[in-house]
Amino acid sequence: MKLPRLTIGTVRPGRISPMRPVPASIARPDYAETGVPRRGHEPNRKSPDVLERLRRTCHLAADVLAQVGAAVAPGVTTEELDELAHNLAVAAGAYPSPLNYNGFPKAICTSVNEVICHGIPDSRKLASGDIVNLDVTVYREGVHGDTNATFFVGPPSDDARRLVDVTRECLDRGIAAVRPGRPVSDIGRAIQDHAESHGYGVVRTFVGHGIGEQFHTDLQIPHYYTSQARTAMEEDMVFTIEPMITQGSWREVMWDDGWTAITEDRKLTAQFEHTIRVGASGAEILTLV
Ligand code: MF3
Ligand code: CO
Ligand code: CO
Repeated sequence: MKLPRLTIGTVRPGRISPMRPVPASIARPDYAETGVPRRGHEPNRKSPDVLERLRRTCHLAADVLAQVGAAVAPGVTTEELDELAHNLAVAAGAYPSPLNYNGFPKAICTSVNEVICHGIPDSRKLASGDIVNLDVTVYREGVHGDTNATFFVGPPSDDARRLVDVTRECLDRGIAAVRPGRPVSDIGRAIQDHAESHGYGVVRTFVGHGIGEQFHTDLQIPHYYTSQARTAMEEDMVFTIEPMITQGSWREVMWDDGWTAITEDRKLTAQFEHTIRVGASGAEILTLV
């Protein structure tokens, strides 16, 4: 018989090192100095020029994610992963988009075990049996590319492997539901049906989003079904799909840092994210290596 995980909900805040500088030669998004993104409407359907730039920037995001993911191991701190991501982005001439976005202090989000999203890289060492989501967004050529994946630290428990496998399938199902002329609610329905068929929950508070010259446009992509998600998909729209799937409750509570969202019952949660373009007959995944 498998023993239950005795270490439920044990992630605690660590020390956060000072913000790392980005060389002045690298073009920055509007919020880099102030912390406040300029809102203003950005069209969700992109011009051929913006699309070409998005393809290159999204490819870089995928490349950085793969390289930082390869560094995940027991004993490595989330801050070391952040430093690696920061340096890879800068070496490629990109600005790490999370840095000072609404005041976020680091280059990537690192979300361990019960952390749903927006975990701040800190002095905590990864431990064998943890799962960790790395969320990489980079800004280059005036556009953002956003992708994330959940990695195992050492050999996973059967429960963790199941959750992570189903979460990846949820992203795949959401992507497969992309089709011009259909409402974006099709995406959430496909994801929710798959998650709930495995007894898992779907986080409501954090959703996919339009992306381009802005990190987050006003277009929202819920990962659960809601009749309010009426926006029709149109060719050349670009947005993210990034389901957060939970073993137990889908409700979150927030750490005092104002960023780290954890499951209210402290059970495990996983996430995968791609930036996609709506193509004539389905999604074009932009954040592939
Ligand atoms: N990359 C995250 C997303 O998928 C957003 C991170 S915002 C930050 O939308 F400020 F936390 F970096
Ligand atoms: Co995103
Ligand atoms: Co992201």
